[in-house]
Amino acid sequence: LEAAAGIASLIKVLLAMKHKKIPANINFEELNPYIDLKNSPFYVVDKTKEWNTPLDRDGYKIPRRAGISSFGLGGTNAHVLIEEYNDDRQKTLKSGLDKYIIVLSAKNRERLNEYASKLINHLSRQTNPDDGFLADLGYTLQLGRQPMDERLAVVCENVHQLNEKLHCFCEGNYGIQGLYTGTPENGRDNLDFLFSGKSGYKIIKEIIYAREYDKLARIWCCGGEIDWSLLYEGMRPNRLPLPTYPFAKDSYWPEAVGKSKGKPGMPSPAVTQEEADSCFYKPVWIRKPLPAEKTVEIASCKGTVLVVYGEDAQGLAEALFQAHMDHTVVMAKLGTNTKQFPDGAWEISVEETGAFDKCIQTIEDLKFIYFLGGIIKNPQVLSDSEAFDRANEKGVISLLRLMKALSSCGYAGRPVQLKVITNNVYKVLPDDEIIPVSGALCGFTMSAAKEYPAMDISHIDIAFDAKQVLPEDSFKDTLSHMVKAVIQESGSKSMHPVALRGKERYIRELESVMVPEACEMPFKKDGVYVILGGAGGIGFELALYLSQTVNARLVLLGRSAQDEEKKKRISELEAKGGQAIYIQADAADAQSIDKAINAAVANFGQINAVVHSAVVLKDGIIERLDEETLRNVLAPKVKGSMVLRNAFKDMDLDFMLFFSSAASFTGDAGRSAYTAASTFEDALAMYMAQNESYAVKTINWGYWEKVGVASSGRYRESFKARGILPIEPAEGMETVKNILFSDEPQLMMLKLEKGHKKNNIEAACNDAAAQAENKQAKEYDSDMDGTERIKLNPAVRTGRRQGLNSEDVAGEYIRRKITCCLCASLKMESDEVDGNVVFSDLGVDSVLAVEIVHKINVELGIQLRSTDLFNYSTMRQLIKYISNSFRIETQEDDDDETDDSELLDLLVKLKQGEIDLEAVEQRIEAKEAI
Ligand SMILES: NC(=O)c1ccc[n+]([C@@H]2O[C@H](COP(=O)([O-])OP(=O)(O)OC[C@H]3O[C@@H](n4cnc5c(N)ncnc54)[C@H](OP(=O)(O)O)[C@@H]3O)[C@@H](O)[C@H]2O)c1
Repeated sequence: LEAAAGIASLIKVLLAMKHKKIPANINFEELNPYIDLKNSPFYVVDKTKEWNTPLDRDGYKIPRRAGISSFGLGGTNAHVLIEEYNDDRQKTLKSGLDKYIIVLSAKNRERLNEYASKLINHLSRQTNPDDGFLADLGYTLQLGRQPMDERLAVVCENVHQLNEKLHCFCEGNYGIQGLYTGTPENGRDNLDFLFSGKSGYKIIKEIIYAREYDKLARIWCCGGEIDWSLLYEGMRPNRLPLPTYPFAKDSYWPEAVGKSKGKPGMPSPAVTQEEADSCFYKPVWIRKPLPAEKTVEIASCKGTVLVVYGEDAQGLAEALFQAHMDHTVVMAKLGTNTKQFPDGAWEISVEETGAFDKCIQTIEDLKFIYFLGGIIKNPQVLSDSEAFDRANEKGVISLLRLMKALSSCGYAGRPVQLKVITNNVYKVLPDDEIIPVSGALCGFTMSAAKEYPAMDISHIDIAFDAKQVLPEDSFKDTLSHMVKAVIQESGSKSMHPVALRGKERYIRELESVMVPEACEMPFKKDGVYVILGGAGGIGFELALYLSQTVNARLVLLGRSAQDEEKKKRISELEAKGGQAIYIQADAADAQSIDKAINAAVANFGQINAVVHSAVVLKDGIIERLDEETLRNVLAPKVKGSMVLRNAFKDMDLDFMLFFSSAASFTGDAGRSAYTAASTFEDALAMYMAQNESYAVKTINWGYWEKVGVASSGRYRESFKARGILPIEPAEGMETVKNILFSDEPQLMMLKLEKGHKKNNIEAACNDAAAQAENKQAKEYDSDMDGTERIKLNPAVRTGRRQGLNSEDVAGEYIRRKITCCLCASLKMESDEVDGNVVFSDLGVDSVLAVEIVHKINVELGIQLRSTDLFNYSTMRQLIKYISNSFRIETQEDDDDETDDSELLDLLVKLKQGEIDLEAVEQRIEAKEAI
């Protein structure tokens, strides 16, 4: 009750502030005569009265404030001070100052840098900041913050200058005019001597009155105490809400031992604290300039540039053309005919599957490609089904065709740079307006980057005002900066897409978050819930849960017709307490969804919320992915999500919930279609969260083992190998409940094995390609005839000793390496791999093929393509292919045949499991005895 008394008082004060009235003490009748309130500033409120804005001694308005006490015999000792939030401060119009000193201080240099970055971000969000704003900013930082040891002071005349100087500081530049840094440690002795006592104070005052800003800034940086209020005599700047101190996010919790008993925010009591900590992630965008060593001096690189663009990207395409003046540039506009113009430019028909092949076959030494098919000027495309379909043809479908054409023209294994550009797909800054139309390109590019490790593939999301893509604006400041940044960007090949906003570069990372336990059900008793894909695995689990917990009335939608299995499922649902119907409807068909909605409303009278749980999952590496498969996989999540959005646009829903996938962030190789579908779904959901009147949430699921599309053994092995643990249905449902209740619009739930730290998601999620990237790039070594060299010296030496010729040796060496890679991915013993067994019979599918090929490439330092595992589908065929295609370097220095090679030989055998440690010891002992 004590605690309740405190919270009741808090609620009372907040309501009093809201209504600007102080409520009467209803039980007060008469004052205790021994309390002399009359001669005190206190009084009892016996009648409800207006709570007017109080004024300070100088007649300035101050905020309403209240103190709340909660003291009890049980040991509760709490006192809270509440101050109302006011946004009606007088704007500081003209400051009268000619310059401003903006100060920042932190515990160390790293924090100071972070603080400066936060301030830059804050400045970028100001619309029309004037000198009044700068006066407020300076005043707040000078008088409203405790100075710390690592100091920075910027003297500036306007926000632009401040921004520039802070940028230079963050980028590590020194000698910036009007920017000072220092620590009191280095200067305080001298300053104390000069500025202590009355005369010292006088000196500082003189400096202030003389407006010697640079001197003041330097004195403060060296630890001098300055009475900043003297700067503002005769004016009264406001205190601004500003970014808070960037605390280092180091964790000092002791390592959890054993199982925790469970605590709020954990998905299920069976999950340990550590697992819970790493289960939930949200995307965050971090400002990160491109590291200097990654910038490419493009002018010095030889080769042809290809710019693929649609109408909306005309301006950007032309700007790129101009920027590549020193290169041969082929412009390829996405249109309705395929033809080459006399000046060498192309029109590529989006209706012709092989159009890109025709174009790329004519290009010599292709080195740089800009794919601008994802630039969309007009957000209205979302509401226009035909325009939306066209945008997708120019986007993800065209990119698939381009990738295939690159492969068939031999570029897949070459270091070609491909940059896929979209605009406004991600919400990077709080005010970003999202245009989700090209969302599928994000996922497709992520997967492509992993499938083509020799290429340098990146995705860059830019943001611009539609007007800026017009040609006449080509060289306007922002556009030319953007073009420079796009050109300099080099592929990250990882799950961190890049976004350019204004003059800043951001990359996406995942931040681990705790999801607090919902304290009430976000579902209505007897509520009506439509679940697209509700007869499938996770959708049906949710239906069961809703039926059981709130006796929900459920509408399950799916493409297939009602059958016995579905009837059984409906009965199962009704046995849990709710009601259910199944309606056959295809999400990609707006009419059938409209009909289903009408039928649902006719049946249950209303719809409270909608869940999108539909998926078509088909794996396949890009080289083997046909357009029909891509379109089928995209259908429920791209067209289907759009159709749902349009169908429920004006309805009064409680929420719309999207079930998406962790693939959106991990960008799995061999799963480009599904990844593309998922990233579109995410982008659309984020757009809806920004624009719809109801709540829109997305859960990016990790892996469900017991139900759903990934419940087959094939996936089990693959996820297990990657350290990904299955999500149990019960904890999945807890997650749905908690996330609907939380403030987060999008969360990923991914359970990683202990030991896979949160910052290691990349490694856990089949990112062999990213890991192999550098190694392969370095080892890629091609001769004029296109064959590559593998260094086999240790094996050659062993073979010679065994009297084998070099071809046998090479074959044996390759066989061992391939067996090793196969066994690692398939969790098999090496003696189970027979030379004639077909890889697919061992369970090698397209996803595993990508993984195995990466492993082989890393082991042998070659450039196999994922398709090679299908083209040469047995061990024997593959060895033959590798032996013939990659020249084997057999020359060796016989003098070099030292103990090292024997040792290496032993290690290789030990690694392969051919001998054990004991055998190694025996060999060493025998050697020593000689
Ligand atoms: N299971 C997992 O491990 C996992 C992991 C990550 C993300 N997810 C996500 O979780 C959601 C549910 O997956 P799940 O595992 O439950 O899949 P599931 O068992 O295959 O169920 C999906 C359902 O979607 C329906 N569907 C497909 N296309 C449709 C369309 N165009 N219109 C209407 N219905 C359509 C299918 O029914 P019809 O064939 O009758 O149309 C099917 O019943 C999906 O969004 C998926 O991406 C699942």
